Amino acid sequence: MKIIFYSPTSDAELWLHDLVHAMPDAEVREWQPGDHAAADYAIVWRPPHEMLAGRDTLRAVFNLGAGVDAILAIEAREPGTLPRNVPLVRLEDSGMAPQMAEYAMHAVLRYLRRFDEYALLQNERNWEMLEPHPRETFTVGVLGLGLLGTHVAERVATLGVPVRGYSRNARSIEGVTTFAGQAQFDAFLDGVKVLINLLPYTPDTHDVLNASVFAKLAHGAYVVNLARGRHLVEEDLLAALDSGQIAGAMLDVFREEPLDREHPFWRHPRIAITPHSAALTLRAESIEQIGRKIHALENGETIGGIVDLTRGY
Ligand code: NAP
Ligand code: GLV
Repeated sequence: MKIIFYSPTSDAELWLHDLVHAMPDAEVREWQPGDHAAADYAIVWRPPHEMLAGRDTLRAVFNLGAGVDAILAIEAREPGTLPRNVPLVRLEDSGMAPQMAEYAMHAVLRYLRRFDEYALLQNERNWEMLEPHPRETFTVGVLGLGLLGTHVAERVATLGVPVRGYSRNARSIEGVTTFAGQAQFDAFLDGVKVLINLLPYTPDTHDVLNASVFAKLAHGAYVVNLARGRHLVEEDLLAALDSGQIAGAMLDVFREEPLDREHPFWRHPRIAITPHSAALTLRAESIEQIGRKIHALENGETIGGIVDLTRGY
């Protein structure tokens, strides 16, 4: 079996090394421009058009991420980047869900326990005890109840705060009040104190974190964007922070990454920034998952994580 691999990231050599070791029965090679030799599977992150174009006999393309927006954007710009009738398979959790839950719980506790405000008071050497937020009305809303959002909602619920979740299709999660579809969106948002975004980026979810959504949350809500930068209308967040409708934000993803050094988010006293590190793609777990799926496909079995190209996730 022949596998081609491509990633533009600085750790590509480590991925190649680990793939070769994890799949001793396969011939794994790093794809180079001009390589049109046969292949059965492709394992990729942001592949160039030339790598996959016309490779309609591949048995699957594995995307080295949970989100497929980057590869779908390449396909939209350069149609044919994705070979025809070849399943595009995304990573399913592969160790990301616990990392997301840690981040989300940190963000919720940060606001619930007013740590941002204590940090500002510390700057002024001000010994002042703040009134705690009442837990019963400290409602956390999770946008997206997929593999990551569901785990996040379940873990945040263990903090003893009310948790809501929102998805396209109706979901049932113990300890979480769920809402589905556009018709229930406003009811989901109403009074939410911490809004955590874990939606995939699609045409339907573009700019979903905007002024009209912020206005429906509780006054002084907190926004946590863990999904994609293009979900957030940046100027709407800045205006909502100015007005006090939004009290603070923790942002892991940005419209342009890396975030420009002159971007106003960097110095904003109520915005905490991390560099798209909420849930790292773990090599061992991801390679193990892909290896297992290749084995299943070779045995004619079905696999999870096949992207529905019409819905975009
Ligand atoms: P997933 O399993 O595909 O789940 C997506 C969820 O979003 C599903 O519940 C889906 O609803 C819901 N959804 C999609 N479109 C919707 C819409 N228009 N309205 C309402 N709900 C909608 O995805 P995942 O594995 O949890 O990952 C989510 C995203 O996290 C990824 O796409 C990626 O962008 C981001 N991510 C970020 C990092 C990071 O480090 N910051 C790391 C990994 C992933 P249904 O259940 O009804 O289908
Ligand atoms: C990372 O952002 C991913 O989509 O896996």
